Amino acid sequence: MTQKAKTLLLFGATGDLSKRMLLPSLCALDADDLLEPELKIIGTARSELSDGEFRNFARDAVEKFLPAHRRGGMADFLNRLSYQSLDVTTPEGYRELAARVGEDREIAIFLSTAPSLFEPTIRGLGAAGLAGARSRISLEKPLGTDLASSRSINDAVAAAFPESRIFRIDHYLGKETVQNLIALRFANILFEPLWNAQHIEHVQITVAETVGLEDRVDFYDDAGALRDMVQNHMLQLLSLVAMEPPSSFDAGAVRDEKVKVLRALRQVRADESVTGQYSGGGVDGEIVPGYDEELGRDSDTETFVALKAHIDNWRWQGVPFYLRTGKRLPERVTEIVVQFRCVPHSIFPGARLRQNRLVIGIQPQENITLSLMAKVPGIEHEGMTLREVPLDIRMPDAFTGKHKRIAYERLLLDLIGGDQTLFVRRDEVEAQWQWIDAVRESWASEGKTPRTYSAGSWGPSTAIALTERDGVTWHE
Ligand code: BG6
Repeated sequence: MTQKAKTLLLFGATGDLSKRMLLPSLCALDADDLLEPELKIIGTARSELSDGEFRNFARDAVEKFLPAHRRGGMADFLNRLSYQSLDVTTPEGYRELAARVGEDREIAIFLSTAPSLFEPTIRGLGAAGLAGARSRISLEKPLGTDLASSRSINDAVAAAFPESRIFRIDHYLGKETVQNLIALRFANILFEPLWNAQHIEHVQITVAETVGLEDRVDFYDDAGALRDMVQNHMLQLLSLVAMEPPSSFDAGAVRDEKVKVLRALRQVRADESVTGQYSGGGVDGEIVPGYDEELGRDSDTETFVALKAHIDNWRWQGVPFYLRTGKRLPERVTEIVVQFRCVPHSIFPGARLRQNRLVIGIQPQENITLSLMAKVPGIEHEGMTLREVPLDIRMPDAFTGKHKRIAYERLLLDLIGGDQTLFVRRDEVEAQWQWIDAVRESWASEGKTPRTYSAGSWGPSTAIALTERDGVTWHE
């Protein structure tokens, strides 16, 4: 049984993720009494800050990014915090850090720094005795830019930590609605008998954003939509939708099943993917510049990608999984659409029977909607009039009084508690990269460059053609 960590070490503690997500999440957990009273949190970064200055930084972050009703008495939370200035590439600071940690080396380490700093940090932690058998480490994306670089990060971490103590983050796994996919599929008898190629015609996964580059210019331009969103978040959603029922809800069983899906992904053909880059347009009632203009130079980076994926196994043979994601699309929406097949025989001549469809809203709407055919009330001379009606569950209404949590709350708590179920295993991340590398190779060999789409539209017209040639329309 894994012991709970007594110390949480936050590397990159003054960075953007820490400010917007980690510190507010920790404060919210503390306000809900979910942190052990003795847990101490030590922030580290290069800047020279005193403990008091770091606490002020944390207070500002919490006040800005956590709603007031979730903050509780912030004083207790702030008292847990201290700060160690550290240049991760030199050994000195680690000794002082080790002294701050003290004798109890049950530590959780969170690296929210540039991946180029992972290796020196891990070396420094090891040399200072902070990577011992009782510490565990969590890494934020990007975990590489391709399979080779991902392997080298994984090798560097593996030199100091066993896999059972490595917690790779995909923040989508911390979202309640993503975890609810597992509940929906495996806590109900209804769906599983129909969850296969015999009854499902296709699946759509959309992760649409209205934002543009924000302030991550260089990172994003090097990554592009495929590596930024598909490699991690979208493949996680796909794995959860497509996996076989795990034998239990534990880290080994769940991750074994997800890896099998990733390994069964067929290589995408060049004509099964579409890339796009936004030009100027209107989003949310505002005129916004094009990508190149935002970037300040010409670029061939894709800000939109749509793919038709296939899973080569018995369950999914012949069922396309259409994936699309992009920046500067008309609305922010993450959803999964499961389109069932037609009834095998209609007893309603003349009626147009629509196929049942299950729409799982991940964000911002947290809805589960099953569309069903029903009789329109009334007395007809012959037969009956039918219409599609939604069976609609709005999660916030179903669970009133439960507040919405930041995805990192769950992930930080699991890291501190040592539960790896919602973290990404090495073979999983490497299988993701292997598939993504093949997509990129197909783009390179075809000389594919992104098609332009206007900001505020649903991507280039070729993305619509990708599904329409199969007689499928993207769900909107
Ligand atoms: C991040 C990507 O991993 O996920 C960002 O780097 C993206 O580009 C973000 O905006 C989306 O996360 P969420 O939780 O807002 O859907």
